[in-house]
Amino acid sequence: MNPFTPAQRRCSRLLLCACALWLAGCGGVQSSLAPAGREAERIARLFWWMTGAGVIVWVSVIALAVYLVRLQADPRDRRRNSVLVIGGGVVVPTVVLTVLLVFGLAMLPPAVARAPAGSREVHVIGEQWWWRVRYLRQDGSAVDLANELRLPVGEPVQLRLESDNVIHSFWVPSLAGKMDMIPGRTTYLTLRPTATGIFRGTCAEYCGTAHALMGFYVEVMEQDAFRRWLDHQAAPAVPVAGPVAAEGQELFLATGCNACHTVRGTTADGVIGPDLTHAGGRLSVGAGILRSGPDAFRRWIATTEQLKPGVHMPAFGMLPDAELRALAAYVEGLK
Ligand code: CUA
Repeated sequence: MNPFTPAQRRCSRLLLCACALWLAGCGGVQSSLAPAGREAERIARLFWWMTGAGVIVWVSVIALAVYLVRLQADPRDRRRNSVLVIGGGVVVPTVVLTVLLVFGLAMLPPAVARAPAGSREVHVIGEQWWWRVRYLRQDGSAVDLANELRLPVGEPVQLRLESDNVIHSFWVPSLAGKMDMIPGRTTYLTLRPTATGIFRGTCAEYCGTAHALMGFYVEVMEQDAFRRWLDHQAAPAVPVAGPVAAEGQELFLATGCNACHTVRGTTADGVIGPDLTHAGGRLSVGAGILRSGPDAFRRWIATTEQLKPGVHMPAFGMLPDAELRALAAYVEGLK
C-alpha cells in the first residue's frame, strides 16, 4: 500500500520537476558549472564548496532544533544552553565561516592575475549593443573583428576591455568570471581555456534597451587551427562568387551599408558598425541573436528593429525581396 496521500504525491512530483529544471541550468554553452577554463574551474570549485558547507550548516541547524524540541528542557537547563552556544550560536558558525573565508580569499589572487608577459593580447570594446574585437598579432599588426572570439586551447590570453559609451560587462561563464568595461578606464581579464568547444558569452551589466541581446560566441580551438584562422581573418575579403553575390556587393555600396561597415579589400570602410570582412564565417549574426545559417543575414537586414529593439542599424525591409537576398548572399559569402 502506498503510504503517501495523493496531495503528497503531487507535491513530490512538482518538487522533482523543479529540481530537474534547476539542474538543467548547470550544463550547456553558458554555464559556470560546466567550466572549460582555469578561472571558471576555480569559480565552480568555490561554488560547490560553499554549497556543500551551506548544506552542512543547514542540516546541523535543523538537527539541533529537532534535538532541542525533543529535549523539552527548561530555558535555564545548562545542557540546553551549552548546546545552543556551542552548536548554533557561537562556536560552529565562527569556525565554519572562518574556514570558508580563508578558503575563498585564498582563491582570489590568481583569478585577477594578468597573463604572463608576452601572452597574446585581444582588445574587446563594448558598443551599444555589440562587441568590437581587435586581435594584436605577433608582428604588431592588428586585426579588427566583431561579436566573436576564437582562442587557442591551453594558452593564456590577455583581454584588454574598454568602452567609450556606457558600462558593459564581459562574461563567458564557461571560461572565467565577469569583468566590467568602464568608459575612460581599461580593465583586464585573463582567459586560460582548458578544453576546445563553443561557448556563449553575454553582457552582464545593464547597458540600455538591447542589453539582454548583447551576446557573442567564443570558440576554443586547437593551437594550429587557431593560427590558421587568425591568418585568414587578417587577409582581405574573399572575391565575390556568383552573380547574385556580385549584385549584393553593388547594393551594399549603393544603399550606404559601407558608411557604417568595413569590408577590407573593398571601398567599404565605415567604422560605426561591425567589421564584416569575414562575417559569413562567424557563428552568429547580430551579436549572438541568430545562429548563422542560410536565411540569418536576410532576416537580420530586413527586420533589425524587431530582432533587436533599440539597435542603431536601420532595417532595410523596404527593399524588394530579391535585393535583400542578394545583399544577404554577399555578406554570407564573406567567409
Ligand atoms: Cu552591454 Cu549590457
